[in-house]
Amino acid sequence: MRTLTTAICCCLLAQVAAISEAYFAPNSTGIKFQNGFERVYIQPFVFNGFRVRASLLRDPTGSELSALIDPPLEGPEKGKSAGLAHDQVVRYGNASRPIRNGNMVVVEISKTGLLAFYRVEFDGSRSLLTSEFNDTKALVPRYYVQDFRSSSFEATFSFASSPDELFFGAGQQACCKDHTVNKKGQVYDLINFNSNVPIPVYMSSKGYLQFFNVASQGRLEFSDYRTRFVSSETTVVDYYITAAEPGDFDTLQKQYTAATGRQPTPPDFALGFQQSKLPERFVKEKVPVSLIVVDFFAWKFQGDWSFDPEFWPDPAGMAATVKKLTGAEMMVSLWPSVEDNSVNYKILQEDGLLETTRDGPGVSDSFNDVYTRNIDSTNPAAREFLYGQLISRIPYARTFAQYFVGTQEAAGKAYPWLHQQAIQEGFNNLTETNDPTTCQHMSLTRSTFAGGQRFCSYLWSGDTDSRFDVLAQQITAGVSMAASGISSWTLDIGGFSGLNVSTSEYISLRYQLVPYVKKLFQKLQATGSSILRPLYFDFSSDSFVGNATVTNDPLVTKQYMFGPRLLVAPVTVAGASKKDVYLPQLSSSMVKNGFHWTHWWSGRSFGQGNITIAIDAPLDQIPVFYLGSKDNILSGNI
Ligand SMILES: *[C@@H]1O[C@H](CO)[C@@H](O)[C@H](O)[C@H]1NC(C)=O
Ligand SMILES: *[C@@H]1O[C@H](CO)[C@@H](O)[C@H](O)[C@H]1NC(C)=O
Ligand SMILES: *[C@@H]1O[C@H](CO)[C@@H](O)[C@H](O)[C@H]1NC(C)=O
Ligand SMILES: *[C@@H]1O[C@H](CO)[C@@H](O)[C@H](O)[C@H]1NC(C)=O
Ligand SMILES: *[C@@H]1O[C@H](CO)[C@@H](O)[C@H](O)[C@H]1NC(C)=O
Ligand SMILES: *[C@@H]1O[C@H](CO)[C@@H](O)[C@H](O)[C@H]1NC(C)=O
Ligand SMILES: *[C@@H]1O[C@H](CO)[C@@H](O)[C@H](O)[C@H]1NC(C)=O
Repeated sequence: MRTLTTAICCCLLAQVAAISEAYFAPNSTGIKFQNGFERVYIQPFVFNGFRVRASLLRDPTGSELSALIDPPLEGPEKGKSAGLAHDQVVRYGNASRPIRNGNMVVVEISKTGLLAFYRVEFDGSRSLLTSEFNDTKALVPRYYVQDFRSSSFEATFSFASSPDELFFGAGQQACCKDHTVNKKGQVYDLINFNSNVPIPVYMSSKGYLQFFNVASQGRLEFSDYRTRFVSSETTVVDYYITAAEPGDFDTLQKQYTAATGRQPTPPDFALGFQQSKLPERFVKEKVPVSLIVVDFFAWKFQGDWSFDPEFWPDPAGMAATVKKLTGAEMMVSLWPSVEDNSVNYKILQEDGLLETTRDGPGVSDSFNDVYTRNIDSTNPAAREFLYGQLISRIPYARTFAQYFVGTQEAAGKAYPWLHQQAIQEGFNNLTETNDPTTCQHMSLTRSTFAGGQRFCSYLWSGDTDSRFDVLAQQITAGVSMAASGISSWTLDIGGFSGLNVSTSEYISLRYQLVPYVKKLFQKLQATGSSILRPLYFDFSSDSFVGNATVTNDPLVTKQYMFGPRLLVAPVTVAGASKKDVYLPQLSSSMVKNGFHWTHWWSGRSFGQGNITIAIDAPLDQIPVFYLGSKDNILSGNI
């Protein structure tokens, strides 16, 4: 009897496994609505997702600037470009047939061509994720304003949301007193500044991710019942939406990064300590260092993209000496700004490789008392010219700037991204390598756009002050950037300016953690799994974490998981020597693994969580708790 039961159980289990593994392949290549002035293309894209493109009066060309990769890295049609394929051409309300791709279905829900997106559950039922927003007196959900000087237009797209829905992502916010992990209630200006890198992508607690593949200025609004994307200028509104089980943020990231690119694994030197001065002193004080950054104004004139020979007689010799002394690599900082006195100015100007402005001359910025023009990195010829030099700064975006690919309104957010691409391409050309999974070089960028993770590049969060409130904001900025697909992220240790603390204990901890961090980057490359994680990603079933995340209670949202095994709760108040930490309730699978929360410094165990503790937090003991064996963490055996 007993064996029989076991056998039946096994059989049932096998069946369940078979059902969950069977993938429902897309049953249509796409729908094209052609109705009045509007065209809307809806296509299955990657696993469990759709791509939607809407345009006015003319079809999309398919060759618009895009962060979506077609064909994507993974998907039911792997290797096959979707292009603008479709097998249904319909008017609104004329019986378009729903498309299913894996566990996701898109359905036309009204006579006005509105779309609704559902997740198909294991029992075959459908759960509504979101739909294009409609209400009797509302602005229509796909709203356009076109001025007839060009084919471009302003677009406002609205989607239904519920007040209890949580959103994660939206890029890096360092302004406007924003300390949020849950973006509900926030409004974001889609424009990049020093430290502010908004990205129109977000993940919902209902189990979907939505990304607007438009590098324009505009806004992202998360209000109670409506989530809105506004593009100031575009020729196509292009978005991607993908589903997973609620709380399964790793699957959403896997699908999203299959659509936008995966982070190649960084070289070892990028995992160590990085500084911009005093290599000899590090040797003297026995502090390891892996990268020395030669920061700005090593050049004579902006746009020279070479060292000022008066102060840098032998850069190559110096790099060799630094390497010999410390083992560290060197990195140079170069800006995109070009002043009239630069050796490169004349040729760039004559070849039309400088950004211009609507009124002609192209003066778009000033620094250090000179007016500057920026190299137009959106022009392939300019990218080629630039190469041989590394660039890591964005221009202050001026409204009337114009680039090869379009206006600042329409394409400004792509500027830093195309810089990253230039460096990547140039390095690949130079070294004759083209391995999208491994990096031999790294660029450090202060800005980016969606999909920036595909480059050998890491985002640094810009000029930060050495203040505790700034450190606190960096926590939510970092986890939000990771939730936007970019885990290769860093901040200036102790802040960019005003530093006055000793960090050398922490530097040695950083080196101890290299094997663990290396493992996290390998996982990131293979699956897109975020490295910095809001507690909600791993503990959404703990209702204390859930409730605190809804309200952005700093007790929970100023803590984060660093990979699957470390919980970090930085002190964010000056002079504090104790810190309240919430240790979440471990999931049953974590409990099964024998995990419990252990304090990094004292080795004291705090059981399986669901507890707030006050932990000693002197300056040299940042509150860190780990799961599993410390040896395994230190050896990267996770
Ligand atoms: C609606 O679709 C049918 C075929 O499904 C087609 O015969 C008919 O012409 C369409 N009507 C309009 C108004 O597009
Ligand atoms: C695709 O499958 C879904 C769900 O099974 C169904 O509702 C829909 O009609 C199908 N669409 C087509 C074009 O066959
Ligand atoms: C709004 O959506 C509902 C279905 O959710 C539909 O019945 C109704 O026709 C829609 N209204 C408009 C104006 O599209
Ligand atoms: C890299 O090489 C390709 C092929 O020769 C060329 O088209 C491209 O412009 C080069 N990129 C850079 C940044 O030099
Ligand atoms: C740095 O801190 C030390 C005490 O830790 C203090 O004596 C010194 O004045 C500080 N320096 C600056 C520049 O604030
Ligand atoms: C979370 O909030 C819900 C609804 O307000 C409440 O019922 C529940 O007790 C809260 N859970 C915790 C752990 O505070
Ligand atoms: C967590 O602790 C609270 C009270 O401290 C208790 O009511 C609740 O049942 C606990 N939750 C779990 C999952 O143990």
